[in-house]
Amino acid sequence: MEVTVAKSAGFCFGVRRAVEQVYRQVREGRKPVYTYGPIIHNDQVVRDLEAQGVQVIHSEEELEAIREGTVVIRSHGVPRRIQEKIESQGLACVDATCPFVKKIHKIVAEESRRGAVIVIAGDDSHPEVDGIKGWAEGPVYVVETPEDVDKLAIPDEKRAVLVAQTTFNYIKFEDLVEIFSKKRYDSNVINTVCNATEERQSEARQIAQKVDAMIVIGGRHSSNTQKLYNICKKKCKNTYFIETLVDLDVKPFQSFRHVGITAGASTPNKIIEEVQKHVRIKF
Ligand code: F3S
Repeated sequence: MEVTVAKSAGFCFGVRRAVEQVYRQVREGRKPVYTYGPIIHNDQVVRDLEAQGVQVIHSEEELEAIREGTVVIRSHGVPRRIQEKIESQGLACVDATCPFVKKIHKIVAEESRRGAVIVIAGDDSHPEVDGIKGWAEGPVYVVETPEDVDKLAIPDEKRAVLVAQTTFNYIKFEDLVEIFSKKRYDSNVINTVCNATEERQSEARQIAQKVDAMIVIGGRHSSNTQKLYNICKKKCKNTYFIETLVDLDVKPFQSFRHVGITAGASTPNKIIEEVQKHVRIKF
């Protein structure tokens, strides 16, 4: 059996950096340590951190009740209001927002301060988008489909700036840009889709079209893993979404000769290694 593992599988730079920041706080003995939301969409890593005393803050109300300690902001980032709340409560704030997301916050804050309407291509229910919205100082819209862009009704005298959630599918973003540009606003498009996502998606697509089966590893709640799965499924009908090795249904693999493996941005290397070894040894 031939196994091809995507080079871009697993933690991206921003996630690795955020996870390391949390472990560093633990090592340096800062107590108590909190993360605002789970640090990554990976239950194994979150449980390991919990075992070391790191607690997850689930809501703004929970944050308001905390009187001491260190709060780590995860790579997705948070709205400005949350960051200010952490600081105004006298808590130590470790901002592990990915620098690429931070760049979007900066664009949104500056452009909206100058009077532009902000349009974000992304999933409105995703925390990263919630964070980006929270840096706008004026009107902000979220679009996900061509219909959403069609429906936009921005006054002619306003300038519009289109940015993207870092994990937005690049091809879909280009489609939205085409429609957005045809609306002839005084507009500016800034491609903020992260390269890590683009590379992971296109490598997954390339591998998926040449293998008999594709394994996509990642947390069940991870949107970037779900997107990887959809991309692979289009090219390879035998695509399997697993969280860990335990979820792998081995039966169909007897008949495959070439298997591809990729993983979402929050999948630890350890899990990818385990799956890879298992597939190589067993089949
Ligand atoms: Fe940052 Fe890109 Fe990862 S934006 S968190 S390096 S997917």
